[in-house]
Amino acid sequence: MPTIYHHIAALQDTLKPLRSEQRIALVPTMGNLHDGHLELVKMAKQQADIVVVSIFVNPTQFGEGEDFDSYPRTLDEDVAKLATVGADYVFAPSIDEMYPVLPPPTSVLAGAITTQLCGQSRPGHFDGVGIVVSKLFNIVQPDVAIFGQKDYQQLAIIKQLVRDLSYPIEIVGAPIVRAADGLALSSRNQYLSAAERQMAPILHQELQRLAQQLMAGNDQHELKSLLAETQTRITDAGFTIDYLDVRTEQLDAVDNVKSLKENNQKLMILVAAWLGRARLLDNEIVTFN
Ligand code: PAF
Repeated sequence: MPTIYHHIAALQDTLKPLRSEQRIALVPTMGNLHDGHLELVKMAKQQADIVVVSIFVNPTQFGEGEDFDSYPRTLDEDVAKLATVGADYVFAPSIDEMYPVLPPPTSVLAGAITTQLCGQSRPGHFDGVGIVVSKLFNIVQPDVAIFGQKDYQQLAIIKQLVRDLSYPIEIVGAPIVRAADGLALSSRNQYLSAAERQMAPILHQELQRLAQQLMAGNDQHELKSLLAETQTRITDAGFTIDYLDVRTEQLDAVDNVKSLKENNQKLMILVAAWLGRARLLDNEIVTFN
């Protein structure tokens, strides 16, 4: 069983003598772990000698009216699951331990990357992610940290944070883990009713269809019309789209599909859509070669 720490000082006392000889990986989570999280831990084990998993439902990344209070907290089950994949330490701090002052009067992120896509409909969300991830990096001081690619924008923001604040940490993005029917695994999938769960894979199917169409074409107008068509199909299937967009890998706007294609650059199709109470996030990479 992994050892659980609730206090920063105790975790740091344990890690301090180990870090000179051993490589430490951090897997940050909000708990309620599913197979996608366990894959992150397995990947972390390949990258390091010691794996620390943080479990903290971070209040600063939830907006007003969001699901902070109802977010499932399942520490005992999570720790049992982590034992099956060989995590060494679990860091599960209280809110007071993480935030001496709440909300924290310090911010680490800025710029358009935080206010577009998910940041547009969840103002302040990435400020909360930025502060908690920075704190976790400072507390654990890992050599490597693993994040899921389902939250593609979050991963891009964290890479930017590491670059701009010179954190000596390697950031690894782990592929999306899907259910057999294609739905990307997420703790929030449990908000879906049985009927909604049956419908939910349509979202990924539509992304795959759009990816195929984009691979076949190279016209900028076509991109716009294919996007609009996909938007209609997803809406008609019963989803409420928050955003659906095609961006470069760096999340810049795509203004010339033809030249991106000629340069063998990848495109990202990114979506956030509501189905009942669940806000589903997904993405698909379009490769041209
Ligand atoms: O992706 C998540 O679960 C959270 O945003 C993270 C990175 C653990 C920060 O709270």
